[in-house]
Amino acid sequence: MTQCLVCDHDVEPFLNFGPMPIANGFLAAEQVASEPFADLEVGFCGGCTMVQLTQLVEPEAMFHENYAFFTSSSAWMGRHFAALAADARARWLDGAEDPLVVEIGSNDGTMLGNFQEAGIRHLGIEPSANVAQAAMDRGVETWVRFFGRETADAVVEQHGRADLVLATNVLCHIPDLDGVLAGVSRLLAPGGVLVFEDPYLGDIVEKTSYDQIYDEHVFYFCLGNLKPLLARHGLEIVRAEPQGVHGGSMRYTVAHAGAHPVDPAVEDLLERERLAGLHEPETYVRFRTAVEASRDALVAELERLREAGVRVVGYGATSKSTTVTNYCGITPDLVSSITDTTPTKQGKLSPGAHVPVVPHEDFRADPPEVALLFAWNHQAEIVAKEAQWLADGGRFLVYVPRVGFVDRDAPLAATPQV
Ligand code: TYD
Ligand code: ZN
Repeated sequence: MTQCLVCDHDVEPFLNFGPMPIANGFLAAEQVASEPFADLEVGFCGGCTMVQLTQLVEPEAMFHENYAFFTSSSAWMGRHFAALAADARARWLDGAEDPLVVEIGSNDGTMLGNFQEAGIRHLGIEPSANVAQAAMDRGVETWVRFFGRETADAVVEQHGRADLVLATNVLCHIPDLDGVLAGVSRLLAPGGVLVFEDPYLGDIVEKTSYDQIYDEHVFYFCLGNLKPLLARHGLEIVRAEPQGVHGGSMRYTVAHAGAHPVDPAVEDLLERERLAGLHEPETYVRFRTAVEASRDALVAELERLREAGVRVVGYGATSKSTTVTNYCGITPDLVSSITDTTPTKQGKLSPGAHVPVVPHEDFRADPPEVALLFAWNHQAEIVAKEAQWLADGGRFLVYVPRVGFVDRDAPLAATPQV
C-alpha cells in the first residue's frame, strides 16, 4: 500500500496497466535494449479523495534537455492559449500597474509570447532546456529550473510578487504539489490569481479516456480533490470553467482565501461531481471495468482490420498513445507506423511498442486506408486538415469515448462499436 502524496493516508490502487516505458520516451533503434520500464498503477486516496499514480518515475527521466513535446505543435492549442491570455489579462490585469505574469512550465513560450508581445512583464519557469531555449529565442524571459518554494522566493526577490500565475497541463505533473502550492501562495500578490488547466477527472471517467493516465500525469484533478489541498495553503477556487481542449480540461482560478468572490458555478460543479461519484472509490472500480472493455474492443477491431488486409497507421505520436499501445499490445503488425509533425519524434520508435514514427509527408505520399487517431484530443483540427483524405475514402478509428470510426458526415461524433 502506498501513501498519498497529498495527505499521507493509504492509497487504494484501482487499475494496474503493467510495465510501461517512459510515455514521452521516443527512442532510436539502438536504445531499445536499455529501455526502462516501470509499473503504471493508479489509485484513490480514501483520506482526501485524490486520484494519483502509486509509483513515480524520476522527473529527470521525463523532463530533460531533449523533452519531445513542443506546445506550438498544435495550431489550435496556440489559439486556445492566446484566448486564455487575453481573458486573464482583461479579467485580472486590467488597471494593475506594471503587472507581473509568471508561468510555471512555460514550454516553448507559446502562452507567454502573448504577454511579451503586449509589453507585459513576464517570466517563464521551465525545467526542460530545449523547449526553454525555443522560448528565449523568441524573446520570452525564461528560467531553466523546477518550480517550488525556493524558485518562488527567488522570483519575488528579483521581480516582486505576481499578479497572475499561469500553469497549463503542468500542476498534475508535479509530485510535490504541496511545495508548488506553497510557492504559489508566496509568489501571489494579495489580489493575485493562479489560473491553471489540467485534464479533468470528470471527463476521464465519463469518456473512459484511460490514455490520460501515464507517468507524467501524477494527479487526476477535480474540484473536490483540489479543495482541501488548496485550503491548506490558504488558497481557494474562485472560478472553474470546463474546456474542450486535451479531451476535456478544467480551468481553475485560485486566489488567496477571501480575496475575490467565489463564482456560483464552483458550487454547481462540485454538486455535479458528487452526483457523478467522483469522490467515491466505487466509481473507480467501475472505471477499471470500462477500461478493460475498451481495450478488448480496440484490439478486436485492429485484429479484424489486419485479417482483412487493411493498412492501419497511427495518427499523432502522443504521450497518451504510449499507454494505449503498451496496454493493448499494439505493435507494428497492427499499426505499421505513426505519423507526427514533431521533428524530434520523427525517425524514432514509439516507447515500448516500437512503432516507427514518420513525418506527415509520408502520410500524404502514401495514404493508409485507416488511421488510428491517437491524437483524438485534436480530432476537430485533424479532421479539418485531412478532409481530402477522408473524402477519398480514408477513415479515422478512435477509442474515446468508444471504439468506432469517425463518421464522415458528422465528423465529431464517434460511431458506436463497429
Ligand atoms: P498532445 O495533444 O500534446 O498529446 P500528449 O499530451 O498525449 O502528448 O500531442 C499531440 C501530438 O500529435 C504531437 O506529437 C503533435 C501531433 N500532431 C500531429 O502530428 N498533427 C496534428 O495535426 C496535430 C494537431 C498534432
Ligand atoms: Zn490523500
